[in-house]
Amino acid sequence: VPENDPSVLFTTAGMQQFKPYYTNPESAIKDFGSKNIVTAQKCIRTGDIDEVGDATHLTFFEMLGNFSFGGYGRREAINYAHDFIIKELGLDISYVTFYKGEGVVPKDEESQKIWQELGVHDIREDGADVFWGPTGDSGPCGPTTEIYCKNADGQDVEIWKVVLNEYFWDGSREKLDKGEANLKKVDVLGIDTGMGLERLVATVQKKKNVYETDLFNNKETKDERIVADHVKASLFIISDGVVPSNTSRGYVLRRLIRRAVRFSKTPLKEEVLKVKEVYKGVYNLDDKGEIEKEEQKFKKTL
Ligand code: SER
Repeated sequence: VPENDPSVLFTTAGMQQFKPYYTNPESAIKDFGSKNIVTAQKCIRTGDIDEVGDATHLTFFEMLGNFSFGGYGRREAINYAHDFIIKELGLDISYVTFYKGEGVVPKDEESQKIWQELGVHDIREDGADVFWGPTGDSGPCGPTTEIYCKNADGQDVEIWKVVLNEYFWDGSREKLDKGEANLKKVDVLGIDTGMGLERLVATVQKKKNVYETDLFNNKETKDERIVADHVKASLFIISDGVVPSNTSRGYVLRRLIRRAVRFSKTPLKEEVLKVKEVYKGVYNLDDKGEIEKEEQKFKKTL
């Protein structure tokens, strides 16, 4: 649950809490003592809910990220990502992307060149998919360059996205896509990167999908996976102080629990215990009986 961003119900990205710093980089020094930050951020994204159950999509995930508000730029950010993937983790990069340019935003030839110099051979140009943001109703945005690695099935999985926040847009992404944009260039290039922990773990552990990793308990069918994901998301949401209701966050939570009930053959309690076991000693998770209560309510309605 975001602490001070009324434009969203849930934190959907690592950069959410840092939005103000991209237009006011100096305040990062005051607040954090540095222009460079790293985080592991709990995120909820319901936009991809229909994809949940495939190899990579989740409604709850942890996003690892490094951010800079004028401390370092494009070259360093790409270098760090490259070094971490290749040297630290020993993975191969399948391909990377860069923004092809549109309207006032030029083709990101600089990123393309940096990847070439790093010896990456497969560098692909892409469109709207590799222009990030803004989140909520306004904010920083810009071209991104993404890194794909192969999973154990040979599928290309987007592991990491390096966003180059060169612009500020005073409107939603929807309006931006409608071409109503009046993008303002920011004074200082901001760096925002996001690497999904679950996808990364799947790749490092040479698994076919996120459900085979030790962040889950080997869920095979799509139904089992949906239940595992939704129960996990619900448990994290409740642990952040939300209860099921008919409005706002509480409604998102209610829908997640009810969707889990529909796909589950067993009481959700069993899955709640499994999730708690996985995160024991890392996150203090407690559903305070809310999941079971909501499950009973919904079953009665059905
Ligand atoms: N903001 C980007 C994302 O959420 C990168 O962190 O994917």
